[in-house]
Amino acid sequence: MPDSNCQKASAASSHTQPPSQSQQHVPQQHAQQQQYVTQQQFIQQAQQAQKQIQQAQQMQQQMQQAQQMQHMQQQAQQMQQQSQQQPQQMQQQSQQQHQQMRQQSQQQPQQAQSGLEGGPLYQAKLPYPPVKAMCENRTYAFAMLDNVGGNNSEISAVSLYFYNHLRTASCAEIASCFHHVSIVEMHHLEIFGTLALQLGVDPRLWTRSRNQMVYWTPRYNQYPVELSKLLTNAIQGEEKAIEKYQYQIEHIEDCNIVENLKRIILDEQIHIQVFQDLYQRYVSSC
Ligand SMILES: [Fe+2]
Repeated sequence: MPDSNCQKASAASSHTQPPSQSQQHVPQQHAQQQQYVTQQQFIQQAQQAQKQIQQAQQMQQQMQQAQQMQHMQQQAQQMQQQSQQQPQQMQQQSQQQHQQMRQQSQQQPQQAQSGLEGGPLYQAKLPYPPVKAMCENRTYAFAMLDNVGGNNSEISAVSLYFYNHLRTASCAEIASCFHHVSIVEMHHLEIFGTLALQLGVDPRLWTRSRNQMVYWTPRYNQYPVELSKLLTNAIQGEEKAIEKYQYQIEHIEDCNIVENLKRIILDEQIHIQVFQDLYQRYVSSC
């Protein structure tokens, strides 16, 4: 029995013996291996992560390139659209201009006819003679200068009709008449001024009176506002102008001056008719 006990004891003692050195290295190696594996895995994971980052960067670059390409394509499309639209716009503009020119060419004869047929007439149909005095003549020169800047003068008519045009603005027809007649009077002013210069005097808005040069003044005019008086004043001014020009025709021997005076008288007579017509329709009929 003691032997069996001893066997048990030895068996028991065999289980409690400390491990040998080789047996001690096994766990350490295992742990080192595990650590190595873990490090390798970490490195692999890091490498994978780096690859993923690189892939993401490449994708981002590709997306940027794609966006740039898309932007360039859009610009190309816009340029193409503009290049297509520009000829259309130019064609439309040229068509509009052509239409406007055609409308104007159609309107111009109508406007010209309105002065000759049916519509109001503000000047005679006869053409104006050339403005060319025969030679310098101071007497004739001062006569023409008085038609420019004297009391009874073309500049007096222009300024009076400008005023009448403003004062009759409530009636478009009367205002328009004074406007158009004033333009004709400006032409007369130019003719007399040209003659005065050709004949040898300085064509300012002035005249010679009692051996002195006297500048024109708006005080020469009367400015009635009431329509009947306004029209009567205009008619009387035209009549005085005709009377003055007829006197000059009788005393001037320069045929070119005479021709111009006669032609201008024709206009003044039409102006009288225009104002008398207005008077009958806007004053007498009321
Ligand atoms: Fe006149």
